[in-house]
Amino acid sequence: MERTTLVQHIRQQEKANPGATGEFSSLMNEIMVAAKIISLQVNSAGIGEDIFGLTGKINIHGEEVKKLDEFSDITFTKIIGQSGTVCAITSEEKEEPFIIPIEDDRGKYIFMMDPLDGSSNIDVNVNIGTIFSIYRKKSLGDIVTDEDLMQKGEDQIAAGYIVYGSSTIFVYTSGQGVHGFTLDPTLGEFFLSHPDLVIPERGSTYSINEGNWVIWDESQKDLVAYLKEDDPSTGRPYKLRYIGSLVADFHRTLLKGGIFMYPKDTKSPKGKLRFSFEAAPLAFIVEQAGGKASTGNQRILDITPTSIHDRLPLFIGSKNDVEMSEKRLAATVNKGSWFKWLSG
Ligand code: AHG
Ligand code: MN
Ligand code: MN
Repeated sequence: MERTTLVQHIRQQEKANPGATGEFSSLMNEIMVAAKIISLQVNSAGIGEDIFGLTGKINIHGEEVKKLDEFSDITFTKIIGQSGTVCAITSEEKEEPFIIPIEDDRGKYIFMMDPLDGSSNIDVNVNIGTIFSIYRKKSLGDIVTDEDLMQKGEDQIAAGYIVYGSSTIFVYTSGQGVHGFTLDPTLGEFFLSHPDLVIPERGSTYSINEGNWVIWDESQKDLVAYLKEDDPSTGRPYKLRYIGSLVADFHRTLLKGGIFMYPKDTKSPKGKLRFSFEAAPLAFIVEQAGGKASTGNQRILDITPTSIHDRLPLFIGSKNDVEMSEKRLAATVNKGSWFKWLSG
């Protein structure tokens, strides 16, 4: 049986772009190499090198840095940084962008990553992943500016993620559909396993940390209560699935349909997930697969961040489920203001 490798696929997609120089293919190939190294490390966590546990450091988001977070961050930064295809790298784990010195080999792309997503699941053998996003340097000249590092979601050139799970899967889009590749561990090669992924228009599951119920606002409570009501004619109640690794929850949602939500709450008034490293890349992928991604009232890809670590609420998945959620949220907000007006 003839199988398409990830390298072949990337080259074919790049060829479809007039004026392509091969730089994009090189970058994607380096991402694949870093992903293979991390996959190997994840699969052998616990044996040999001590990769479980904490580094003792706290990152810019105030979260404890696990050893695997740090290992993934360093591996990606080294490999991508030396690829000659990027001029800057931003990471969830790094407060400041890493700018490739002008005298070094650098290229026209900006690489953004959540090097290890789902950190809380590392030590318990539950799926974790990497999320990445690629933009082209916008400003002219050698200096990397804020305009380059904080681009509108829609300006992404490519985005993808890798799930380190029961198998390792690499999913990416360069604006020509979404394609998934599974790592054959015997050959160490990714093969096309999920060509032209399309998310079901509507699903039957919702995914949210429902333990946060008491810190949600009324509109969020109303939405989740609605999904749990018994009404077979509208497919309710929905099933609840929540892994706690965005990449894994998203991967399931992409394949099976439904909605993933991380709303704002009193603990994270702006939302918990990060625009550049989590929401924007997955929004690009879901739209390419026919789905939707929203803050609850705004399309994610219409947003231009104001800092590289911006956070926001995320509602992502099947088109009908995201649209229904937006409508429902808006209706309760309006009901709330009517109530205040009447009782005020
Ligand atoms: P990270 O491990 O990169 O910091 O991301 C964790 C994120 C995301 O993967 C997941 O969806 C969410 O945090 C889980 O948060 P809760 O534990 O609050 O549910
Ligand atoms: Mn994450
Ligand atoms: Mn992370």
